[in-house]
Formats: sequence, structure tokens, C-alpha cells
Amino acid sequence: MGLSEKQIAIMKFPYSGYDAIIADGAVRAGKTSIMSLSFVLWAMGNFNNCYFAICGKSVGAVTRNILNPLLTIQYLKNQFDITYNRSDHCLTFRRGQKQNRFYFFGGKDESSYTLIQGLTLAGVLLDEVALMPRSFVEQALARCSVEGSKFWFNCNPENPRHWFRMEWLLQLDKHNAMHLHFTMDDNPSLSEAMKERYKTQYSGVFYERYIKGLWVMAEGVVYDMFDTGENVYRPEERPVDLYWTGDRSIAIDYGTTNPMRFLDIYDYKGKLYVDREYSWDSRIEFAQKTDSEYADDLETFMGKRQCPVIVDPSAASFIAECQRRGLYVIPAENEVLDGIRKTGALVKKREIVVCSECECILDEFGTYVWDDKAAMRGEEKPVKQNDHSLDCLRYKVNALPDWRFE
Ligand SMILES: Nc1ncnc2c1ncn2[C@@H]1O[C@H](COP(=O)(O)OP(=O)(O)OP(=O)(O)O)[C@@H](O)[C@H]1O
Ligand SMILES: [Mg+2]
Repeated sequence: MGLSEKQIAIMKFPYSGYDAIIADGAVRAGKTSIMSLSFVLWAMGNFNNCYFAICGKSVGAVTRNILNPLLTIQYLKNQFDITYNRSDHCLTFRRGQKQNRFYFFGGKDESSYTLIQGLTLAGVLLDEVALMPRSFVEQALARCSVEGSKFWFNCNPENPRHWFRMEWLLQLDKHNAMHLHFTMDDNPSLSEAMKERYKTQYSGVFYERYIKGLWVMAEGVVYDMFDTGENVYRPEERPVDLYWTGDRSIAIDYGTTNPMRFLDIYDYKGKLYVDREYSWDSRIEFAQKTDSEYADDLETFMGKRQCPVIVDPSAASFIAECQRRGLYVIPAENEVLDGIRKTGALVKKREIVVCSECECILDEFGTYVWDDKAAMRGEEKPVKQNDHSLDCLRYKVNALPDWRFE
């Protein structure tokens, strides 16, 4: 298949006189695939015995989004001897006497930060740069001291006051950088039907960002795609074999002065059924519970059918109490924004449905809003109130494998 005009511009970037390239915009727009191809061809055409960095959110993300697709390109296999060393995450390209190494890093992996500090690089590709900490990105760029080195960035849009937009996109001249804005129409491999399918996955701010590719602010209700008809089922509509065949887990947001919540969730035929909830709010009940009392309540709530519990990682004493009782505890991944994006996608696809008896979470869906004061400071976060059941749900969603969102 051929390349679109913007993809051709990525291929020509090394010969453009610019020192950096930024491709931003919609999802599935053909940014990463062509950028990584152009990057390795540029490296092999212009350098020998040099080191390069390919960075993603995590090393796993680089392997999935960059390494695996590159290894399927027949042209590269014909032109180069390619080897990948799993233990040091190093990809080597060789042709004749010429050889270059590409190290993989994860912007969010602590170990990557220290490893990259020691390298001298001839170029760095930052895939999904807006999801990496600024300190990591700056460290990676600072390592590029080889003559002729270039910076390659791509990302989906975030908050308009995000540091990457402020520092790079709004100051292209300062960095001698070229900017290409992508939409799904710039990916020649996507059929109209595929584009339509991606469009149905997002709404609100996520539609503006991931489909239109715009840097817009998150405002108003976070889960504005939640539909009290389509995302809610009455107890009599519950699938008859939900309890037998559903993959059950209980997600827990811990609180002593704050409310304690348990959500009983079944993963059934590709949907999450939020079926029951437990709530204890010491400020309403005028009584605080101990970890042991909470664990009693949890065992009662769980009943006879054992299942894993996914717990707020900061609740160390409660986790210890659960483990002492032989419960299988999964510490929750507490990433807020990515978790909201994933949860929003499942809500939009109606792959999260809630039983009409779960009053707390239904109430929260309606009142969980973005913090507009924080947004003005360039921070993106929801207002932290009346969010405990939604935190539980996010812990469950963050525990799902990545392919559920691809
Ligand atoms: N010119 C092309 N020919 C064939 N396939 C292509 C072409 N461009 C992109 N693709 C394929 O389209 C898919 C999406 O492309 P890619 O991953 O590069 O998009 P992206 O813009 O990085 O998306 P995201 O923002 O979601 O990371 C990939 O499977 C890629 O291999
Ligand atoms: Mg990409």
C-alpha cells in the first residue's frame, strides 16, 4: 500500500533541514508506523556504530507499537540483518560493515530514566510523547550529542496547556521543528468502515482529541457518554448465568474517614457488569470501622464464591488484613487519566453496564466533573469528591489487559 502525503513528508523529514519533527493528531492516523520506519532508514543511511533511543510510555508499549510492526516489513528484512536482544531491549540493524543499535525505553519506567542518563545518542524517537514525564523527555533529548542528531516526536493531543504543546508545538521556530497534523484520513490503510468504528468509540473531549486530533480542554461531566438507558440494567435483565460464567472480581476503594466502597464486577461476554455495591460512610453513620470489621464486611459481601479483590494500593493495612484471611489481593493500578480514558471508551461502547440498584455509582456518573481551575494551570484532573465508586471501577478497568482497548 502507498503512503499518504503527510506520511511522505515524514519520510522526507531527514532531508528537510529541520532538526525535529512533531506528528500529532488523531488515533490510528499512521503516525507511529511511518515515523519508526523513517527513523531506522535515516539512522542506517547516515550513521554507523551509533546509539539511538526509541521511547514509548513503557518498554512493553514500544515492543507492541514499534518493534513488532517493524519486524513485519519485508523491505527491512531484505535490506538489513535485524536482531533483537530481549534482555537489554536492544534492536540491532546491520548491513555489511555498517551497524547501529536502537535501545528501547519507557518514559514511565523508573529504570529507563537512570539507564538513558549514561548514553550518547545520535537520535531519539519519542512515541506518544505527551504521555511521558517532561523530565524523562528532556533527559533523552539532552543525550543527543552526536553531530546531525534529530528529534522525532509523535502524540495524540491532550490539554492545550500541556507542557509539550507549550514548549514544542507553540515554539516550532525556537527548536527548528516541523509540525504535521494527522487525522485518520492520512492513513491510507483505513477503510471508511474502520474510521466509522473508531469514531463510535469516543465522545466529548476524547472525540475532539482522538478523532479530530485537537488540543482541547476537558470540561464538564467526565463520563458524559454514560447513558442511563443503555449503560444500566434492571435486576430482572441480569443474564441468567452471570454469576456462574462471569469472571468475578471485587474492586475496593478504601476509606476510614472517607467512604469505603466495594464493587462486585463480573466480566461476562466482553462486558463488565457492575452488579452490586457496598458503601460505608463513617461521616453519615457516625461510626468508623476497623480494618478487621471492614474485612468481615468484605467476606459477607463476597459470599461463598471466592474471587480476587483489587484494592487501592495505598490501603496497606487493609491489604495485609485481607491477605491474612487468605484473600487473593491484586494491588490496583491507580493511573487516573489513562484509566478515565479507558473507562470512557468502555462506557461509550456500552461494555460497562451497571445494575440499577447500585445507587452510589449511578449518582457519581452524573456528578463526576473535570476540575476547571486545575485545567487553567495546565493540570488535568477531575474534582476529587463523590468519586469513590468510580475509583473502584477505574481500578478494575486498569487491571484489564491492553488488548481490550485496541
Ligand atoms: N501507508 C500505510 N500502509 C499500510 N498500513 C498502514 C499505513 N499507514 C498506517 N498503516 C497501519 O495503520 C495502523 C495505524 O497506524 P499507526 O499505528 O502508525 O497510527 P498512529 O497514528 O500511531 O495511531 P495512535 O495514535 O493510535 O498510536 C497500523 O496498523 C499501521 O501499520
Ligand atoms: Mg501511535
